[in-house]
Amino acid sequence: MDFNIVVLPGDGVGPEVIDETLKVLKAIGRRFGHRFDIDSRLVGGAAIDAEGAAVSKATLKLCKKADAVLLGAVGGPKWDDPLAKVRPEDGLLELRKSLALFANLRPVKVHPVLVNSTNLKPEVIKGVDFIFVRELTGGLYFGKPKKRWQTDSGRKAVDSMLYSEQEIDRIVRVGFELARRRQKKLISVDKANVLESSRLWRQVTQEVAKDYPDVLLEHMLVDACSMRIIQNPRYLDVLVTENTFGDILTDEASMLAGSMGMLPSASIAGVPQTGVRIFGLYEPIHGSAPRRAGQNLANPIATILSAAMMLRYSFALEKEADVVEKAVEDALNEGYRTYDIMSEGKTRCGTKEMGDIIAGKVGGS
Ligand code: IPM
Ligand code: MN
Repeated sequence: MDFNIVVLPGDGVGPEVIDETLKVLKAIGRRFGHRFDIDSRLVGGAAIDAEGAAVSKATLKLCKKADAVLLGAVGGPKWDDPLAKVRPEDGLLELRKSLALFANLRPVKVHPVLVNSTNLKPEVIKGVDFIFVRELTGGLYFGKPKKRWQTDSGRKAVDSMLYSEQEIDRIVRVGFELARRRQKKLISVDKANVLESSRLWRQVTQEVAKDYPDVLLEHMLVDACSMRIIQNPRYLDVLVTENTFGDILTDEASMLAGSMGMLPSASIAGVPQTGVRIFGLYEPIHGSAPRRAGQNLANPIATILSAAMMLRYSFALEKEADVVEKAVEDALNEGYRTYDIMSEGKTRCGTKEMGDIIAGKVGGS
C-alpha cells in the first residue's frame, strides 16, 4: 500500500533521529511491499529562521493532506529569548490545534534489560507497562480568557481550564478503547475535589463508562496520582487526563524508563478502533538536546518506536508495528546501547549504528 508521510525533523538531534527512523521505515516498506512517500519540511527554530514562522501555512496545508506526520524535536538556545514573538514550541501547539490532534498517547514501558538504569529500585519498576492518554487541544493551553492586563493594584493574568462535555467525551473514549484492549482497567485523573472543570470531567467520564461495562473505571486525584507513579507504577495500566495534568505527569512517568530516549508518543485525531486509520502526528517525547546534536550520540529508539505507533494507529499496519517493536527489543537484548542507556559490559553505539542494527533486524537479516 501507499502512504504519504510529512516528515518534520526540526532542531537539534531531531534530524539525526529522524534519519534513522526513515531507514527503519524503508526496511518495513521493502519487507512488506509498502510505499512510504516522504515529504520533508521545516518546523521549530529551523522554520523560524528560514520561513519566519515556527510552522508555515504551506507546511500545515501539506500535513493536512498527508496520512501522518513524523516529527523529530523543536527548540534550542538560539530561540530561547522569553520576549521573542515566536518560539519553536509554537509550531507544536499550532500543529496540534490546527490538525485537531486531541489525544496524546504516551506509553511508559520499562524494558527488562534496563531496570538497572534508573534511579528507582528495580523491584519497583520491573514490569512497568502503562499508557497515558493526555487531552491535547483544550484546558489551560487553549482555553479563553487567556490574557494579561493592568489594574489599579498591579498586573493580572489569567489562563482558563475550559472543557466542553464533547471534548471530555471523546478523550475518555480513547482511554476506554485502549483499556478494552489491555487490562480493561481505566484510571481517570482529575482534581474534582477543587476544580469545576474536573467535576464535569468526572461526571462525563461516568456517563461514557456506561458504554464500556467491560472496563473497570477508577477516579484518581492528580496529586495522589503523582505519588502513585513513583510508589507503585506497576499498578497503572491506562490513564486518561486533561492537558496540563498530563503534561506534568508524563514527564514524571518518563523517568521510570531510565531515559527519555526510549519513549515514543502519538497525537491522534480520532478514537482508535481496530482496523481504522486515524490521522496522527508521531514524535519522541525527548526534546532537541542541542548539546548532543551533530555528534551521532542521540538515541533514535524513541523516534523509531513513534514510527511503530504511526504504523499501528495511522496505517492500521499492526503486524509491521510489532516487527519494529520486536527489532528494538532484540537490539537491546543483544546488548546494543546508545550513551544514555549505556552500562558496563554492553556494546556502545551511536545514533547511526543503532538505526542500522534495528533496520537490519526489520529487514529480516
Ligand atoms: C510536551 C511539551 C510541550 C507541552 C511544550 C513544548 C509546548 O512539554 O509535548 O509535553 O507542554 O505540551
Ligand atoms: Mn511536556
